[in-house]
Amino acid sequence: MFSPPAISVSSTIDSAIILQKAAELAKKLGLEIIPTPAERSSELLLAYTPEGLKLLQAPFASDRFVTLLFVDFVHGKNGFRRAKDSSTKQAIARAAGIKPGYRPAVFDCTAGLGGDAFVLASLGCRVTMCERSPIVFALLADGLDRALQDQATAEIVRHRMQLVVGDATYFLAQNSEGYATIYLDPMYPHRRSSALNSQAMRSLRTLVGDDQDCGTVLETALKKAHNRVVVKRPRLAPTLTETVPSHVIGMKNSRFDIYLTFNS
Ligand SMILES: C[S@@+](CC[C@H](N)C(=O)[O-])C[C@H]1O[C@@H](n2cnc3c(N)ncnc32)[C@H](O)[C@@H]1O
Repeated sequence: MFSPPAISVSSTIDSAIILQKAAELAKKLGLEIIPTPAERSSELLLAYTPEGLKLLQAPFASDRFVTLLFVDFVHGKNGFRRAKDSSTKQAIARAAGIKPGYRPAVFDCTAGLGGDAFVLASLGCRVTMCERSPIVFALLADGLDRALQDQATAEIVRHRMQLVVGDATYFLAQNSEGYATIYLDPMYPHRRSSALNSQAMRSLRTLVGDDQDCGTVLETALKKAHNRVVVKRPRLAPTLTETVPSHVIGMKNSRFDIYLTFNS
């Protein structure tokens, strides 16, 4: 049984306004507020830092914090990918159904740190991202806010990325708006693929556990997508359910299972 780690909210910035913001976030998430990170009572801190909101871990016998999770659409991997790889021939673009002159509306059931959604939005798709962990949602919302302030990413985020909090199965069942493509990237199965998971995905697993209901999300998505459902899986993992994909796009360590749907 998964038990989420204890988390407190704090700020490494010496500012009354930011501390107030941290207190509001703590209240919203039902977490304890720690005015100064050194007084922490839990190993994990959700903290406002000069770079933005981060999930930090305090190593034993040290005051140096390690960043476990941070959403940055402007720099790092996301920034590099936006600047260097705008090809509509890349696997995720083909999987999502991007074609010359056509950009599907995408519903991303498993927003996580928003990396896949950002690639699709950078390529021109309107993406609605759904995240059920309120802490991951807060990190992602903070990353989107900062991306709105940067010239290189503002346009992509303002016009093409929308974030909703809650369970994707529930959202899809309630929502009558159509999405051509529904995207799922559930946590990779625990044992076999830990070596395939990035440090960020391992940290994310610590926070949210396994996505054990992903078969249900897939079955709901199959009834709702106008054109296709795309599922990202480890290369050798079984399909999510017994439903057989229409086709598969393989990559080095992972693959996309594509289920064509044609719901009206
Ligand atoms: C492997 S991560 C997704 C990573 C993401 N594709 C990225 O590029 O960062 C899975 C995320 O989906 C979320 N999730 C899983 N099932 C969900 C559901 N049914 N509804 C909403 N969020 C879900 C988890 O909380 C987790 O944050």
